[in-house]
Amino acid sequence: MPSSIRLKTALPGPRSQELAARRNEAVPRGIGHSTPLYAESARGALLTDVDGNVLIDFAGGIGTLNAGHANPEAIRAASAQLQKFAHTCFSVAPYEGYVALAEKLNRITPGAFPKKTMLANSGAEALENAVKIARHATGREAAVVFEHAFHGRTLLTMSMTSKVRPYKLGFGPFAPEVYRLPFPYEYRGHYAGAAAATRSLEEFFKTQVSADNVACVVIELVLGEGGFVVAPREYVDALARICKDNGILLVADEVQTGFGRTGRMFASEHYALEPDILTMAKSLGAGFPISAVTGRAEIMDSAQVGGLGGTYAGNPVSCAAALAAVEFIERERLPERAVAIGKIVGERFRAFVDRFPFVGDARGIGAMRALELVKDKAGKEPDKDRTDRVMRKACEGGLILVGAGTYGNVIRTLMPLVITDDELEEGLDVLDHALATA
Ligand SMILES: Cc1ncc(COP(=O)(O)O)c(C=O)c1O
Repeated sequence: MPSSIRLKTALPGPRSQELAARRNEAVPRGIGHSTPLYAESARGALLTDVDGNVLIDFAGGIGTLNAGHANPEAIRAASAQLQKFAHTCFSVAPYEGYVALAEKLNRITPGAFPKKTMLANSGAEALENAVKIARHATGREAAVVFEHAFHGRTLLTMSMTSKVRPYKLGFGPFAPEVYRLPFPYEYRGHYAGAAAATRSLEEFFKTQVSADNVACVVIELVLGEGGFVVAPREYVDALARICKDNGILLVADEVQTGFGRTGRMFASEHYALEPDILTMAKSLGAGFPISAVTGRAEIMDSAQVGGLGGTYAGNPVSCAAALAAVEFIERERLPERAVAIGKIVGERFRAFVDRFPFVGDARGIGAMRALELVKDKAGKEPDKDRTDRVMRKACEGGLILVGAGTYGNVIRTLMPLVITDDELEEGLDVLDHALATA
């Protein structure tokens, strides 16, 4: 089998090192990097660095490139739009691309009811707007979120995020009226079945915040940054029922799970869930910055004119790329491809659990797969040091990975769904070697 990985230098190579030195002088240290490589070009699931090294990418710009690096259709659509205009501001002179993308998202998101969509630039901005809209529509103030959640780095979304280091440390005070539920994290014993979960949800609304003050519950059905923990179906059923009974809007944050990653277009579909509001970003734009909030039309229409928007929100170039990317994902049946990828990765990952005493758990759904590394299987103490070593070793071998997990001990796969079987197997071989030797 011909190798896709081609390493011309030790990693990082001299040119990447030169750029890192310049970066250190020019850019604050607070922005972290999961690899020391500087990118030169990328196609599909392969990335070439500035020293000419070709690596397999299991990070996909943190789940942004389901349609592949430099997706030709997204690039073509964006280029065509650029020839017309790059920006007018949708709040000044609106344009068709925004409307067409909203129509598309209204059609493909779960929920057999009239929907409307607003666009923004980043995942965090989508979550900010989802909460704003939910508050306006319900006349209530509180937002309920989960332990291990990640929703962004703005003040509200940082407040909604639960990982202290690095996301919150030193950045307070935080936004008020954010309340936190335990996430049903089975591997760590935080889930004892639907009946117990229902009881603890009822208790929560007695001891933490009154249900009639709660505008929305925001959930990642599969934790992203939190380590690819899949919420059990019965838990989500119970949560949805309690929300409905109490007039609380359910917001599904599908920024990371959306657009095929879990084996369905949206993770909500695995749960037969019709969220009142659904947030999207990442793979929506195939690398172009864009995010979306789609929800029940009457909820989305609550806010007054001018209350929603933003100078760049729904930029026409990003809209054109996003529409092409979504059509590509549908036509190429990338959700089905995610299932096939997940089968291959899942089998290899389960074998890692059997082979390595420090691989405590292998889990996930579709192509969203993760390994949780621990000091030993009985104690389950998180092993961040080994996780970092494995990822470094994998990178030196030509595989780009990103970590996850509140304790920094999870390795997750976010490869472009256009990855070939050969590239996938080769990447997994590199990871296998890194686990065996790091
Ligand atoms: C589930 C989820 N929500 C929100 C965000 C924030 O998105 P962004 O980084 O585009 O602001 C992320 C980013 O990782 C995410 O995974």
